[in-house]
Amino acid sequence: MYARSAARLLSAQTRAFSTSSARQTKVAVLGAGGGIGQPLSLLLKIDPLVSSLSLYDIRGAPGVAADVSHIDTDSAVKGYTADQLDEALEGAKVIVIPAGVPRKPGMTRDDLFNTNASIVRDLAASVGRVAPEANILVISNPVNSTIPIVAKTLEKAGVFDPRRVFGVTTLDVVRAARFLGEVSGSDPKNTVVPVVGGHSGATIVPLLSQNAHGKGISGDAYEKLVYRIQFGGDEVVKAKDGAGSATLSMAYAGAKFTNALLRGLNGEKGVITPTFVKSDLFASKGVDFFSSNVELGINGVEKIYPIGPLSAEEEKLLEACLPDLKKNIDKGYAFVA
Ligand code: NAI
Repeated sequence: MYARSAARLLSAQTRAFSTSSARQTKVAVLGAGGGIGQPLSLLLKIDPLVSSLSLYDIRGAPGVAADVSHIDTDSAVKGYTADQLDEALEGAKVIVIPAGVPRKPGMTRDDLFNTNASIVRDLAASVGRVAPEANILVISNPVNSTIPIVAKTLEKAGVFDPRRVFGVTTLDVVRAARFLGEVSGSDPKNTVVPVVGGHSGATIVPLLSQNAHGKGISGDAYEKLVYRIQFGGDEVVKAKDGAGSATLSMAYAGAKFTNALLRGLNGEKGVITPTFVKSDLFASKGVDFFSSNVELGINGVEKIYPIGPLSAEEEKLLEACLPDLKKNIDKGYAFVA
């Protein structure tokens, strides 16, 4: 009862979990026992587009699975232990990866590289072998580097399809809508701010000029708002004081993006949201992956939209973004090479 009303509530309030088709899908979560993995598993359990939920972690996934499996929605749930990764991946159409360590105060996302790069590479190699046609959604940071790692790993295995590998940057979009709402009085659920570039600090480029409420904001208020969207993650890291980074808002954002992709895969038209994908937009500048509005469809990425007109301030933000983003991407490439 609660789950159904929660699903209805989320759906009505946020359009996060809408369904346009009866076709359903097996979704796997790798890192399901973690701070993000647990609430993400909960939210996927109440998404009507998920028919089967496969929860994997090196520790704790069977417990999470037993727990969420009692929720009164249709989907089947199974938990898998460290040595059961292949079974967890079999038949999965969508694989969400929040596995890896989170930040502590004072750390940048890049500081996580050493630990998370190998975790993501090894998981991607298994996906390439067991579920080569799956759509892979990477939450593990630093996303600017983990996505190139996944792409190269799949490429090495001969199964990279650029339409099926997504860096989840939805939390930046969610934050932009919320923070703009706070300063402008707009309702966050109807506030769409495209956030382009990458997913860390200065690589996060909010395009406030493309929102009716955002375009009037200038001067100090503008600087503060942009900073807050770029570094909002730090607020959570600081407040959690060593206990991790965003988990609940991230789980929400991860479930929201997963639902958008599932709707696209099921044939719904016009599902458009920013995500970090292989993109030609700035390839001439050596930036092979970029987040911009992407139309999601039956093949994953259907269409990558250009970033559109920019204000003078946004031109500067983009100028600052590109070299950093290139460095992060190259670091990911170098790791796999
Ligand atoms: P956490 O430490 O609470 O959970 C991570 C989970 O991954 C743990 O349960 C751990 O056992 C598991 N794990 C580690 N190695 C694994 C492997 N080889 N296979 C399967 N599972 C494995 O961390 P939390 O807070 O859930 O964060 C996870 C990641 O998400 C971090 O890298 C964090 O930086 C990132 N993140 C990304 C955001 C985004 O916007 N894309 C936002 C917030 C966090």
